Amino acid sequence: MSDFPFTQIVSTKEMARTEIETVLQLSQEMEKILAKKEERNSLQGKIVASLFYEPSTRTRLSFETAVLRLGGKIINAVGAENSSFKKGETLYDTIKTIENYADIIVMRHVSQKATEEAIRATQKPFLNAGNGAGEHPTQALLDAYTIYKEQHQIDGLTIGVSGDLKNGRTVHSLVYLLSKFQVKFVFIAPNKLALPKEVKSFLKENKVSFVEVNNLEEVIENLDVLYVTRIQKERFENLSEYEELKEVYCVTSALISNGKQNLSVMHPLPRVSEIAPEVDDLPQAVYFKQVQNSVPVRMALLELVAGR
Ligand code: NCD
Repeated sequence: MSDFPFTQIVSTKEMARTEIETVLQLSQEMEKILAKKEERNSLQGKIVASLFYEPSTRTRLSFETAVLRLGGKIINAVGAENSSFKKGETLYDTIKTIENYADIIVMRHVSQKATEEAIRATQKPFLNAGNGAGEHPTQALLDAYTIYKEQHQIDGLTIGVSGDLKNGRTVHSLVYLLSKFQVKFVFIAPNKLALPKEVKSFLKENKVSFVEVNNLEEVIENLDVLYVTRIQKERFENLSEYEELKEVYCVTSALISNGKQNLSVMHPLPRVSEIAPEVDDLPQAVYFKQVQNSVPVRMALLELVAGR
């Protein structure tokens, strides 16, 4: 494949703009194929291992749907409870085993270091479906695809990102990804949940414009995109801290009425209380469109890493 050198995707940090554009273009093609109910058999004869050692609904099922739509087959391991991990096996050994069964590995894991260990164990095509509080690159690509579809461009946009910027892996991957375009970021979080230092250093090194604020109401009118995230309860060591921060923001229709008419309100889902259900019916709400876009984007990614 000319413009896509990767067979393993663990982060969006190293992806060049042209490579991202390759994914977006192929996603568009996949979307048309799905709409016309045409067949695409690029994974025919291939087996994909779907390893989800942490809870998932959308990511796992959309990956599995994408595999089936491309004519591939799936084997899976769901939940750390049911795996040899429980018997003390290292992830390295698990992946060394699974690479004998599958042609492509998709993995979600609770540990941030898990992706490193996995790609040390195998050279097979590998897609990171979320590593702890680290990254979630395939979500970021479907988020970027959604932004492109909704706003017709990515360059020139002001992107607000709110919620748990410290622990939100979708945020980290999306920020790395969008930094390859001409965007301005507005990060909206309580100080305790601010974007990690290494992500901010990356933005500074790459001269990407960003500001950090605590208050959503004050900045809503400037945004083209508001990417809302859940406070990541499972990553808190101290649950009383979670209790204190869990309802720090709630996006309501009153808030949105102060924003731009064509604002896109996004969320990787699952949502807890950070977007009021009343927002769902507004034209600005695009989070269920993100879900819809996840299948063509994951089809594109599977096909690209498998090598067309
Ligand atoms: C996200 C995740 O797992 O990081 N969900 C998803 O994959 N769509 C976001 C979250 O759990 O808050």
